[in-house]
This record gives sequence, structure tokens and C-alpha cells, in this order.
Amino acid sequence: MAVLVTGGTGFIGSHTVAELLSAGREAIVIDNLSNSKECVLDRIERITGKRPAFRKVDLLDPEGLERVFAEFPQIDSVIHFAGLKAVGESVSKPLLYYENNIFGTVNLCKAMEKAGVKRIVFSSSATVYGKPDSVPIREDFPLRATNPYGETKLVIERILSDIAAADPEWSVSVLRYFNPIGAHESGLIGEDPKGIPNNLLPYIMKVAGGKLPCLSVFGSDYHTHDGTGVRDYIHVVDLAKAHLCALDRAAAVKGTEVFNLGTGKGYSVLDIVAAYEKATGLKIPYRITDRRPGDIDECYADPAKARELLGWSAQYGIDRMCEDSARWQRMNPDGYGD
Ligand code: WQD
Repeated sequence: MAVLVTGGTGFIGSHTVAELLSAGREAIVIDNLSNSKECVLDRIERITGKRPAFRKVDLLDPEGLERVFAEFPQIDSVIHFAGLKAVGESVSKPLLYYENNIFGTVNLCKAMEKAGVKRIVFSSSATVYGKPDSVPIREDFPLRATNPYGETKLVIERILSDIAAADPEWSVSVLRYFNPIGAHESGLIGEDPKGIPNNLLPYIMKVAGGKLPCLSVFGSDYHTHDGTGVRDYIHVVDLAKAHLCALDRAAAVKGTEVFNLGTGKGYSVLDIVAAYEKATGLKIPYRITDRRPGDIDECYADPAKARELLGWSAQYGIDRMCEDSARWQRMNPDGYGD
């Protein structure tokens, strides 16, 4: 049986496809290539010795989706990564995000239902918690997204749980990621954002590679050990492996389950800068600037539920995350290139 991976040429998607193929699973990848490149499939083949079937499909094309399920009747589950994910962009272009992320998911679920595929693992985000009342964060904490991107994740979680409530044959696994960073140890796949990165690690990578002059540290007056923002950074390969555990659990359990995927440890911006300097032997120039609107002081997971029910926990620490990021950056100074 096969797993359909939407957004499978993206950062987390590509690492998950590599883990699926390495574990002997059949993966079929669809992506509209709006924020990734088809050459990622070549890299996956170099890592695993296998090349997944690929179809360029946009989730806003219902007929295209139906054709995939008709062409590959062996699909029995879906891992759904495809979606727009830039918080700042979602604030300036909310309609784009609501249409793409929500309408796309509805189209996907309708195509799944028509094909009789009723198992889905969904890529959600810790952003659904907004500013938590306390840390570490458990899955039963209040949900209060603070931007349209986070709202789309919340709405999609509710859509999926409503589908599962209406049809007891559905299995829904919602995975709330904290801060995915790092890269495959081969250095062949990694994070390759377009333009100026919004997120911390890709920005630091560009500073280390001489593409950007200096890191701006957004605020040093947060209520954290050194005043800079604290987050739960998790290695993308750890995250990828969690998806295989979630697939296995969804094969055995019907209904909806939600899991926080983090290490349970928080690191500050300056902790990350120090770790990246240690991994590369480089100095990362930075300056303290104003807070970024919407940022929170600290956010890290209570990973107990995933450990107990998925039999999964993060294995890699911050040094390995930075070493693997640095290797990807050194081997691919221009990412996947043009
Ligand atoms: C991390 C820390 C910043 C950039 C976002 C999304 C979340 C998820 C992960 C999709 C914060 C600081 C950052 C910079 C900085 N994405 N920072 N200078 O904001 O925790 O989460 O990405 O699912 O949904 O909200 O990640 O990497 O942007 O920021 O000082 O140039 O680094 O203030 O403390 P964030 P981030």
C-alpha cells in the first residue's frame, strides 16, 4: 500500500519522503512547486536509491487530485504538508491563505472520500496555541491562533476532526510542530526558503554563507534567561520519523488524535547563535533590534503524549541540528539553485 505525500518536495515533506522510502514504504508525491523544486526528488533518490512517483498537482484543482487517486489505487493514507506557511505573508494576504490552505484541504478530503482513503496525518503547528499561559505546552492547552496562517491550521484541524466524527472509519492524526530546523545528515536536502528568510535558522545560514551581513535579534527584553525569544527547536529528521509513527498508529486507531512534536527543551535566539558558531567555527554577527510584532517570550512542548502513544521522542540535540544545518548550507550555498 502507498502513502500520498502532499507538499512532498518541501522542507519537512522531502525529509519525510526520504524516511518513508528508507523504511521500505511506497510514497507518491504531489506538489504544485510554488515553494519548492522538482530536483529535490533527485536528491531523495541519491539518499534512498528510490525515486517516488511525482505528479505536479495543485490542491485547488479537484480534477487533478481525483486523477492521482485513480492512477494510484494503492494509496491507503495521506500525509498532508501542502500549504502556505509564512506568518507575516498571511497577515498581509489572508484571503490567499484561507483559500489555498483551507479550500485545498477540503478538495483533498473530498478526493480521499471518493477514493475510499480515510487515513490522514496532518501537518499542523504550535502556532495554534498563540501565547501560552505557561510552558511546557500540552495538547489540551487553549487554542488561540494570532495570525491567519495559524487560523488556517486551527480551521483545518476542526474540519478533519468533524470528518472523523461523522464517519467512524476515518483516522486523523494532527501533528503540531514546534520549530523544525536542521537537515538530512547527507547534506543533500535541507531548508531552502525563497528570498529573505523569515525564520531564525535559515537567516543565520545566509549570514554564515555571506549572503546576508548581520542577524537582527528581534528583542532582548523578553522574560527569558537571556532576554531573547525561547523556542523548542526540533531536528527535521526527528520530525520526519514521527510521521511514520503517526501513520502506524492511525492504521490501528480510528478517530482524531493530536500530538505536540517538540523536544521539550527551549533554546533562546542567542543560544542558537552560539550553537551555530560552535558548529561552524564562524562568528555570526548580530545586532539587537526591536521585537517582531506578534512574537511571544517562550514556547516549548510537553512531548509526553507522543512518547507514550506514538512511541516517539526526539533524538537529536541542538548541536546536531546546527551541524546538519551548517553542512547543508556549506554544500548548497544557493540552496537547490535555479
Ligand atoms: C524564532 C525566534 C524570533 C528571525 C514560526 C511560525 C511557526 C512555524 C515556525 C510554520 C523568535 C527570533 C527570528 C530573525 C530573530 N512555522 N528571530 N531574528 O516565530 O517561533 O515560529 O516558524 O509552521 O508557525 O510562527 O520561528 O524562526 O521565525 O523565530 O531574532 O531574523 O527567533 O523573534 O524568538 P517562530 P522563527
